[in-house]
Amino acid sequence: MILIEKLTKIFGRGTPNEVRALREVSLGIDAGEFVVVIGTNGSGKSTLLNAIAGGFPPDSGRISLNGRDVTRMTDHQRARHIGRVFQNPFSGTAPTMTIAENLRLASLRGIPKRLSIGLDNGEMARLKERSAELGMGLETRLETPIGLLSGGERQALTLLMATLRRPDILLLDEHTAALDPRSAEQVMRLTERIVREHHLTTLMVTHDMEEAVHHGSRLLMMHEGTVALDLRAEAKAGLTPAILLGKFAELRIMAR
Ligand SMILES: Nc1ncnc2c1ncn2[C@@H]1O[C@H](COP(=O)(O)OP(=O)(O)OP(=O)(O)O)[C@@H](O)[C@H]1O
Ligand SMILES: [Mg+2]
Repeated sequence: MILIEKLTKIFGRGTPNEVRALREVSLGIDAGEFVVVIGTNGSGKSTLLNAIAGGFPPDSGRISLNGRDVTRMTDHQRARHIGRVFQNPFSGTAPTMTIAENLRLASLRGIPKRLSIGLDNGEMARLKERSAELGMGLETRLETPIGLLSGGERQALTLLMATLRRPDILLLDEHTAALDPRSAEQVMRLTERIVREHHLTTLMVTHDMEEAVHHGSRLLMMHEGTVALDLRAEAKAGLTPAILLGKFAELRIMAR
């Protein structure tokens, strides 16, 4: 589980461009929760995910993962526990390397180098099997450089790479936003399946209100560096895109 206590992040502190990206955010996320995060541009969604991944030290507050205080741990130190997929299908993979090589790297994430010499045939067969589960025929193209794949294929593969070694947390930052509607839906279906099958604790940022309504077990709406709305169970299940758009309008009126 993730416990976030009074987390504050200020960019450009003391300059005319000072931004309070996170303002004393407190949040507990249980193991296995699938949290959808929405909010206007600049409301702090990516900053929240980056803080969990260890992209920067916060100005104040604490983050613990499974009871361990990770606030001062670098992103590198946390990498073994965290899977990430970004909006840009070109992030997180090596374009000139083949699918097999990328998968191999992903499967070795967090394993000390001296233990990671070569992959045996059994491991290769497992990687092939996992690629086949994506349902895109990628298992027959394992020697293809990743740079030649479509955006949808790359995002599906990145999702697989992020979860190949079961992460404690899966962080998805608008991972379907750059895809055409059909590919976005396909990657979303895969996301659902992988998250459910492996009971992954997941935070998924999206601007797509249909996605926000139809996926996840909990919904957070960020607003100016705070969590303005936190809905679970029936409250989440009863949402429609229109209700969510109404909530955005309410926040705008309150901010005036
Ligand atoms: N490295 C940085 N340096 C300076 N300001 C930053 C930095 N990262 C984020 N910010 C600022 O912090 C605020 C929150 O940014 P963040 O990226 O978390 O927003 P977001 O909710 O993810 O928005 P979007 O929907 O556009 O992705 C914004 O005002 C942004 O300009
Ligand atoms: Mg963002």
